[in-house]
Amino acid sequence: MRVVRTIAQMREALEYMRQGGHGPVGFVPTMGYLHEGHASLLRAAGEKSGTVVMSIFVNPLQFGPNEDFASYPRDEQRDLALAEREGADIVFIPSVEEMYPQPIRTGVSVSSLTTQLCGASRPGHFDGVTTVVSKLFNIVQPDYAFFGLKDAQQVAVLRRMVADLNMNVEIIACPIVREEDGLALSSRNVYLSAEERRQALVLSRSLREVRQALEDGKVRTVNEARELLVSVIAESPLAVIDYAEILTFPDLESLEGGSKLSAAGGEVIMALAVKFGRTRLIDNNVFIPKEAHALV
Ligand code: PAJ
Repeated sequence: MRVVRTIAQMREALEYMRQGGHGPVGFVPTMGYLHEGHASLLRAAGEKSGTVVMSIFVNPLQFGPNEDFASYPRDEQRDLALAEREGADIVFIPSVEEMYPQPIRTGVSVSSLTTQLCGASRPGHFDGVTTVVSKLFNIVQPDYAFFGLKDAQQVAVLRRMVADLNMNVEIIACPIVREEDGLALSSRNVYLSAEERRQALVLSRSLREVRQALEDGKVRTVNEARELLVSVIAESPLAVIDYAEILTFPDLESLEGGSKLSAAGGEVIMALAVKFGRTRLIDNNVFIPKEAHALV
């Protein structure tokens, strides 16, 4: 495994791999502090590509002024061990100066898909993501890029960016990896106190309960589903809801509150952002609602 820190070295390493005929390049962009969710992306990349590139870069552009850029957890040694174990061939770890040597005056911005959910709570966040991912795509020129559905809105936004700008890369979405008790893995889980960690289970539990209630026919409309979601989360006294929404996926359009979920006519997303103390957690479930048969 090669560790490279400059764009020039990265291009050189890729040229070497290409000349060796190592097959398609699979790319896994991350901000580090790696866990099993990132590992699953590396494994998916390994299955589809001859060369696996991972980037580790905590991108200042996607953090708001009052967010956790400075304190975002970092552990390079541990990350490199995980990357090596999971089969990365090249790890790109640029400095902020390497990525942004001068104030950036060019940005990539996807409209409409970025105004709701995390885009509403974190203004400018997705512009930071699309801009850095565009830069990384230009540097790595991957055939495939792997992203987790943990950040489902990010997947929707990046897919649209790639389509709109004819970028020559296929975005591959991978399932959410969870702890055994249901908590979605996140680099930010380390911020949680023991009690917050216990109560944070309410995110995955509320999503499961709504899915079950829909299947049982106990809940049918968008409003009913949203109300159940909110009421389950409210059972955890430390939980402060940022948003709990049900939208179409991947277009992220609103649904009529009084209409049946099964009338959405395709995939929908139930998406949550919930704060525990200073830690904001997200989770979601994407599914195709079916007409429930249970109620007679
Ligand atoms: P980061 O939060 O480090 O996540 C890197 C990738 O890992 C993302 O595609 C994310 O969806 C995926 N991931 C995180 N937790 C996961 C889980 N529990 N299961 C499956 N996949 C998971 O997302 C970013 O970094 C940044 O915005 C980035 C795309 C690197 C741009 O800076």
